[in-house]
Amino acid sequence: TFDTLDDLASDQRVLVRLDLNSPIEGGEPQDNRRFERHAKTVRELAEAGHRVVLLAHQGRPGRDDFVSLSGHAEILASHVGRDVEFVADTYGGEAIDAIDALDAGEILLLENTRMCDDELPEEEPETKAETEFVQSLAPHFDAYVNDAYSAAHRSHASLVGFPLVLPSYAGRVMETEYEANTAIAGKEFDGRVTMVVGGTKATDVIDVMNNLGTKVDDFLLGGIAGELFLRAAGHPVGFDLDPEADLYDSQWEQNHEVVEEMLDERGDQITLATDLAYEDDADERAEIDVEAIEEKDVSFLDVGTDTAEGYADVVRESEAVFVKGALGVFEDERFSVGTVTVLEAIAETDCFSVVGGGDTSRAIEMYGMDEADFGHVSIAGGAYIRALTGQPLAGVEALKRE
Ligand code: 3PG
Repeated sequence: TFDTLDDLASDQRVLVRLDLNSPIEGGEPQDNRRFERHAKTVRELAEAGHRVVLLAHQGRPGRDDFVSLSGHAEILASHVGRDVEFVADTYGGEAIDAIDALDAGEILLLENTRMCDDELPEEEPETKAETEFVQSLAPHFDAYVNDAYSAAHRSHASLVGFPLVLPSYAGRVMETEYEANTAIAGKEFDGRVTMVVGGTKATDVIDVMNNLGTKVDDFLLGGIAGELFLRAAGHPVGFDLDPEADLYDSQWEQNHEVVEEMLDERGDQITLATDLAYEDDADERAEIDVEAIEEKDVSFLDVGTDTAEGYADVVRESEAVFVKGALGVFEDERFSVGTVTVLEAIAETDCFSVVGGGDTSRAIEMYGMDEADFGHVSIAGGAYIRALTGQPLAGVEALKRE
């Protein structure tokens, strides 16, 4: 489908797009899996003696997380085990001077791509290839490597412009993410295929369920979508603790018809929680059977223990398990039971597994599980959802069309 680093000639000047978009606290990027993963691609290129120049973005203009990449260079260097020079310029004179001064095996990170006007508007690759951004940088390189699978759903200059003007390759992260995240749509499994769907965006869950309807035997539901399905099944759940946030009612308005229809037509594929957990007056975790819920006046924060164990049993009988979104508010240990029980069951079995979707994968290190016990832990959020819903990713398509 696309060329990889195995196809790269030696002694190249390589421009590499990474996705180092990270949580920012106090203006500083926080270390996370993305650094560790991309460090492998960067190290491989530097050790092979290429001159390695890195492009990445951070945050969105106007938001607090829209900061310089200087802190990212330090974190990346600690993972690569080599110096990563940083220049506070993306394609101006300073950047070009620093690029041209590089020696074999050296690594340079350029400034946040989203600080350049050319980067952001979503446009066709042909348009992006003609931007000053792409035209200024391209002549200084022999090859372009896209390793930023998790940003590849954006048709931005640094992601889709370069493949039209430089020989292009998929980086190691791009390769592994692509393979794992398209497996559910493309691969045939003999045994049971299970998908755990949760999180806060019901429309994502519904789209994934619609797209993968014929590929998945069991959908195990939790999170906001789980409560919308329970409401459609006649249970008074989905209470907005903060009416301003309006998590349930607006999502119910938007989606209840399709949710009701799905329950009607494909109910046997859909497993809903039989008990739920909430915070009681003493601030403790309390649980209630779904059948016993009489009024919509409690905010549920996790699936109950029986549900979690039932879901774990299904996982143990599955040949493949895909996770999209958490089953509860796992950041609070009291409400981590559903998410952690299911993840531990996946880790214990040798099924084919992919875990992704927003922050779900963060639960793995938070609760001391070993990433090596999972088939693939995706570092993609939006791109993972797009892949599961069968949409092509602009950055991947751009690599393929060479
Ligand atoms: C991500 O963090 O999921 C990607 O880097 C994409 O970021 P974006 O949603 O701001 O485009």
